[in-house]
Amino acid sequence: MKDLKVAIVGATGMVGTTFLKVLEERDFPVGELYLFASGRSEGKILAFKGKEYAVEKLTENSFDRDIDIALFSAGGDASRKYAPIAASKGVVVVDNSSAWRMEKGVPLVVPEVNPHAVREHSGIIANPNCSTIQAVVVLKPLYDRYGIKRVVFSTYQAVSGSGYKGIKDLSDGLAGKEPTLYPHPIANNCLPHIDVFLENGYTKEEMKMINETQKILDDNSLRITATTVRVPVESCHSESLNIEFKKDFDLAELKELLEKSPGIRVVDDPQNNLYPMASTAVNTDLVYTGRIRRDESLDSGINLWIVADNVRKGAATNAVQIAELIAGSM
Ligand code: A2P
Repeated sequence: MKDLKVAIVGATGMVGTTFLKVLEERDFPVGELYLFASGRSEGKILAFKGKEYAVEKLTENSFDRDIDIALFSAGGDASRKYAPIAASKGVVVVDNSSAWRMEKGVPLVVPEVNPHAVREHSGIIANPNCSTIQAVVVLKPLYDRYGIKRVVFSTYQAVSGSGYKGIKDLSDGLAGKEPTLYPHPIANNCLPHIDVFLENGYTKEEMKMINETQKILDDNSLRITATTVRVPVESCHSESLNIEFKKDFDLAELKELLEKSPGIRVVDDPQNNLYPMASTAVNTDLVYTGRIRRDESLDSGINLWIVADNVRKGAATNAVQIAELIAGSM
């Protein structure tokens, strides 16, 4: 694989700094590296593979130089404005915001699930929502084997999903201070409110999980509902999934199928108190699942529990895996 010229947009943020870590860990073929953030961070120094790089202010001219791939995680507004500018200059953008995910012609990719979709891009490829990514990694093998009629998502999402400001609200709250990001204290609390409320009474986060899962599995007939909740956990999202199948299943065979599927680790020995927890997944790139049990209220269905590091597999690692798919064809 040839060395590529890589840009990171939002390099100083929670996901941006993790992009650098993951690119280094996975030995991505970085030739040149350009780091962009807002004017507030201009001149800030960040390290990559022992070398120091100065952060530049992102402008409309940032992509005038020769850049192959840009990893974006600077929020929806910056992506809406700058991703098309980059793409028009021949840069392949992997965008972590929600700005382009549901756009026709923009692939929404989880490499373990729909790697083929990456080929159909016109300059922008979207990285799904963190909660969606970990859910579809587990849903995909079950969908292929048993067919899925309906899914109920209930999430328990870490404050790192809101970037450094979310972590600050939790630590401030534990020290008795008022929140500055969330509308209520997150310390010792659970907020059934992630992203804005929409006219149908759902939050935007809930609708992202529903719409993005249908797009990634390429099945708009799949019935899905969701409740997404912010919990006072620093890192890693946990999710309860209730899944109704089209076909019958054998529970032992289903567990074996998940064990053999890419990107998944089954931790499911409740008699010995073994199940995935947020602390299990910290700093890893796997999707952990456990508490896998028959839903006895359905003809054919299960409940299971899923945990992953939302900043890594839910954001930075998934985007770098997408970049690896593109790099292979450059
Ligand atoms: P900065 O650090 O200069 O504010 P997080 O999600 O952790 O809050 O990080 C957001 C990232 O996006 C940061 O790197 C932030 O830069 C960057 N960012 C936010 N708004 C813009 C913008 N308009 N242009 C460029 N970078 C932006």
